[in-house]
This record gives sequence, C-alpha cells and structure tokens, in this order.
Amino acid sequence: MGTVFVSGALPGGVTAWLAGRHDVVQHDGGVATEAFSEVAPRLEGLVSLLTDRVDAALLARAPRLRVVGNVAVGVDNIDLDACRARGVVVTNTPDVLTEVTADLAFALLLGAARRVGEGDRTVRAGAFGGWTPSYMLGARVHGATLGVLGLGRIGRAVARRARGFSMNVLYTQKRRAPETVEQELSARFVDLAELLGQSDFVSVHCPLSPETRHLLDRERIASMRRGAVLVNTARGRIVDEAALADALATGHLAAAGLDVFEDEPRVHPALLSSPGALMTPHIGSADRHTREAMARLAAENVDLVLSGNPPKTPV
Ligand code: DGY
Repeated sequence: MGTVFVSGALPGGVTAWLAGRHDVVQHDGGVATEAFSEVAPRLEGLVSLLTDRVDAALLARAPRLRVVGNVAVGVDNIDLDACRARGVVVTNTPDVLTEVTADLAFALLLGAARRVGEGDRTVRAGAFGGWTPSYMLGARVHGATLGVLGLGRIGRAVARRARGFSMNVLYTQKRRAPETVEQELSARFVDLAELLGQSDFVSVHCPLSPETRHLLDRERIASMRRGAVLVNTARGRIVDEAALADALATGHLAAAGLDVFEDEPRVHPALLSSPGALMTPHIGSADRHTREAMARLAAENVDLVLSGNPPKTPV
C-alpha cells in the first residue's frame, strides 16, 4: 500500500482497481495541479501521461517517489537520467499499441497520398465540380518505395502492412536489424541520406531524444524526393514543422500525414492552411481496447514496484 497519483482519468476501471490496492489521488489536470503539489511529499507511485513533464524539479518535490508508470510507449516527457539518479523506476507501455498505431500510420500514408482529407473538404464545401481526367491526382502507393525511420515494433508493423501494397521497403536506424527481420519484411538497411533520397514515402517511428530532435530538419527535408510524402506518428519534435510546412507550400513534398506536432496541442499555422497536410490529433493508440490495455499495464507496473516486485515493462 502506497500513495499513488493518477494523472488523468484512466479508462476501463483501472483507477478503481489501483484504488483497491493503494491510496490513490486522481486529478485530470496532471502534475501541474494543486492536487499533485498537495500529495507530492508523500507520493510513492505516479501514473503519468505523456503530457506530464517528469523532471528533476518534480522529483525533488516527491522525495519518496519509487515508480513512474507512463501511459505511453514514448518516455520523452520523463527525464530518465534524473529518475535513475534518484532510484526511481520508469515503465512504459510497449506492444499493446503497436498494431493500432501502425494502422493509423498507414491510414495517414494512404490518406495523404490520395488526398482524402482534401477530397472530403471539397465535397463538404459543395465544390466538387464533377469527374475530369486530371482532377485531384494523388501519389501512387502500390509499388512505391517506403522509407521507415526506425524499425522498432511500430516501424516493423508498418513495414508488414507495406508488403500488402507491394511496396519496396527501406529502413534506417542506429543498428541494423537481425537478418531474419529484414527477410521477413523484405526490408533493406540504408543510411538516412539514401533513405530520404530514394523513398516516395517516409514514415517516422523512432523515439524522440536529443539525438532525434529535428532529425528531419530543413536540409534533410530538402533532400527528400520531390513529390514525396512524409508520415509522422511518433513525436512532432523529430520533424522541423516550419520546414515541413515550407516544403509543402513549395510543392517539394506532395503531402504529409501527421498525428503528432512539435508543440501540442498547438499546430503550426502554416500546416493548418496547407491542403497537403492530413492531420489527426495524436490518436495513434486511440481505440478503447488499446487505451485500456495501456492504462492497465501502467497501473500494474506501479503496483508491482510498490509491492516489491519487478515491473513488467521497465524502460
Ligand atoms: C505513445 O504511447 O507514446 C503514444 O504517443 C500515445 O499512444
């Protein structure tokens, strides 16, 4: 039994389950609330959301904290070094969201390529003037080359989907994937420059870290194929949003499918007015089953650590 702060309403009765085992304080406003400040001195467990900044300053306010269960696979909102230095265990929610996030990445890839958002807006505005041979032409997906930036769980699931569209799959990451994985996915390892220069579609699946912040900067976006499509379901800050908006405006990139943004929930105004940007509000893992599984896993991890056991999914 310990004191646990739950940052936000969790689906699937998970907070009630946790409250049956611990002294739980739940507040929808997250760690920036009075409710958190009040409980911080006696806090032992934290179920955090990706919108919570868990840094050295927060840890200093919660000296008894033993575990942070992040309800996300990404942990860029958490200062891992600061947690390590204080002996605070950090956990995340891998696996349970892999397939649904890959589904959304592919939905954005297809939708951006075939101008689905733009088409929908046109029809709704009553501006569909009738079929003509060269009306609203998009980019061809079938048989095109897909560059996967980060062949982790979600990157692999996207590559698997790409095979169904007879796409040619390239990937890049720090270390080459095992040969069995490359064979299963028919994926070819290349460096970043080659991936950007050869791909008709680039889909981002690496974690956000100081090394990957603006990995796709102005220069690298300019090195992408003319008419290429960029898809980002990982973290907004991996892409220089202003440079991306410029590349869409000049027509260097045909389209972008974006589920994540540099400064959420704010979206760069130039993207908002770009017809080629197909955007969703960070919903990669947003199906009920997945969100319940994420919440449950985060809560179980916190419970396990507070009961003296190893967590299921430590970072
Ligand atoms: C994550 O888990 O990191 C996603 O961004 C939210 O599902």
